[in-house]
Amino acid sequence: MIALKLNPRSRDRHGVAESRNDKRARIALERLLPSLESFWESEDVDQDEIDEVMDRLQRHWPRLFGLLVGLYGEQWDFFYHLEQIVMTMVRGWRLRDESLRQSDRQRINNPGWYTSEKIVGGALYVDLFSENLGKLRDQIPYFQKLGLTYLHLMPLFAVRPGNNDGGYAISNYRSVDPRVGTLDDLKELAASLREAGILLVLDFVFNHTADDHYWAQQAQSGNEEFEDYYFLFDDRIVPDQYERTLREIFPTVRRGSFTWHDGMQRWVWTTFNSFQWDLNYRNPEVFRAMLAEMLFIANTGVDLLRLDAVAFIWKQMGTMCENLPEAHEIIQAFNACARIAAPGLIFKSEAIVHPDEVVRYISEEECQTSYNPTLMALLWESLATRDTKLLQRSLARRHKLPAQTTWVNYLRCHDDIGWTFDDDDAAAVGINAYHHRHFLNAFYTGQFEGSFARGVPFQHNVDTGDMRISGTLASLAGLEQAIEQDRADLKELAIRRILLLNASMLSAGGIPLMYLGEEWGTLNDYDFVKDPAKAGDTRWVHRPKMQWDYLDELGDDGSIRGRIFKSLQKLIEIRKQTPAFSGLDMELMATQSPQLLAYVRASAGNRVIVVSNFSEHPQTIDSNRLRTAGMGRFFEDLYTGETITTAEDVHLEPYQFLWLHRV
Ligand code: GLC
Ligand code: GLC
Repeated sequence: MIALKLNPRSRDRHGVAESRNDKRARIALERLLPSLESFWESEDVDQDEIDEVMDRLQRHWPRLFGLLVGLYGEQWDFFYHLEQIVMTMVRGWRLRDESLRQSDRQRINNPGWYTSEKIVGGALYVDLFSENLGKLRDQIPYFQKLGLTYLHLMPLFAVRPGNNDGGYAISNYRSVDPRVGTLDDLKELAASLREAGILLVLDFVFNHTADDHYWAQQAQSGNEEFEDYYFLFDDRIVPDQYERTLREIFPTVRRGSFTWHDGMQRWVWTTFNSFQWDLNYRNPEVFRAMLAEMLFIANTGVDLLRLDAVAFIWKQMGTMCENLPEAHEIIQAFNACARIAAPGLIFKSEAIVHPDEVVRYISEEECQTSYNPTLMALLWESLATRDTKLLQRSLARRHKLPAQTTWVNYLRCHDDIGWTFDDDDAAAVGINAYHHRHFLNAFYTGQFEGSFARGVPFQHNVDTGDMRISGTLASLAGLEQAIEQDRADLKELAIRRILLLNASMLSAGGIPLMYLGEEWGTLNDYDFVKDPAKAGDTRWVHRPKMQWDYLDELGDDGSIRGRIFKSLQKLIEIRKQTPAFSGLDMELMATQSPQLLAYVRASAGNRVIVVSNFSEHPQTIDSNRLRTAGMGRFFEDLYTGETITTAEDVHLEPYQFLWLHRV
């Protein structure tokens, strides 16, 4: 059965000459057809299914081929690898359920579906939230009550014994950690979430495996094929050369980026913990093997994959080995494979790096969405300084993204806070970045006089003085201190800070993502030190166990938790009903006070003015500006329902925010 005819052509229908890449791609694909055909036959695939996947393959092939040639074309056995990659793709596609294929088709017809204002996310650790996947399924009504339509389950695959870096040291991508359930539980959950209109997000931890992954075990037993999956060195000569230009990521775990392995009598590249072995993507077999794992994960029913630690996946001597061009090409190649084999799947980049580098991962052909670490850091920065000038400068220059891409905005996640703003942005508004980072670290660890925050240092580097910050949203925003001092006025301010930050995250543009627990104002949990597998990593302070009895407080209007929960629920509801909050379009408004942040969000003819007061003192915004920006004289504050007239200047209470819609 001849499945398709590739038209040999030197000009396309617009008369444009076929590029050299396209021609080579076409010839290569022609040579791969016999393998594809024997696959269709052996699997007894229907003709219309073949047509559908071949159509996508042909459309995305020139791009994928070009990327693979760039990365691996010099290898003597390139064509072999090319064929393996294509066959891995079609095998992955073949195992995709019809229900997922249906949603693939819908999404192809609705590009940019993920920029909708209706998407609001939550993240959680299954074991800490609900013990296991079965019980998590029972909590779908809870997610709906809060208004979530996107759920990120922190890594839940089989992990090494002992410390597993919060699930990020995976020993098998195809089995679920038995403590939380089975693969079938995961698939059932995915189906139930789909029915409930909630997107499922899982991690793709592709920079490294655990030291007990099958590949690593094979390497340890001297299997040459698998030794080439990792970076192994007999002595310190090469590692020392690399380390001249590397940054230390987990300096309190171990100095440098390499770990001595006694069994092999070799050094292993380990960017993060010593038991997380970096994969060697110079080896095309690693790309192919991880592609198979990626499609396997996608086929469990995942809508969005969080690409973990993207910055580190390519190494080049003499560089920082972060954000290299080939790292982007690898991700683009995974993206092209997804377009062919699982086109409903989209990517989220986890690049917690300089803002100029963060955006380089974002495009329809690479990661359609990305964490927004700069907005996160600068919201906290504004809260500490009561001054939004650095945040404004960053928003003005860095918020806009290419069409069909979007941010994932967050306040806290399972990781630490690093102060990843641009030093020149800081200089432009009169801030010395070095001193400012020291100030922020002092402020958020509560060392700075008058600070309301209760953060904990993470990865303090004694040589450079660098540090990052751990802590829950509520503890960093002052609630822990206020409760400890039992001061009603401080509690009030802390709650307002929590709501202000959430209102900013929900209105700025992009998918809002909360770390569950935030909806109750959960405080730091210092008990993690009792668990030896967690004690060395302060990020556990902000990963507490869900306390289900909090739900009982929902009816109690006087309770802090009840108030935070209900307020967030309301904000989420409004966000989802306000078309102005879709997409990223944002126009900053000048105000007279640096304590204020004001912007107009607009989409599809719908406009909302957001004004936020980042200080504990009342502020005023002049009514002329509101009239001009909002094109009206009367507004409704969507949050309180109050009518605001522009007959006189508008006052904002401490930490108040307004979401103004013209009436
Ligand atoms: C990512 C994860 C983090 C983990 C690291 C190594 O940054 O968010 O929790 O420690 O990757 O996998
Ligand atoms: C990873 C880690 C995070 C760290 C970052 C540094 O994302 O998870 O903790 O801040 O790398 O680049």
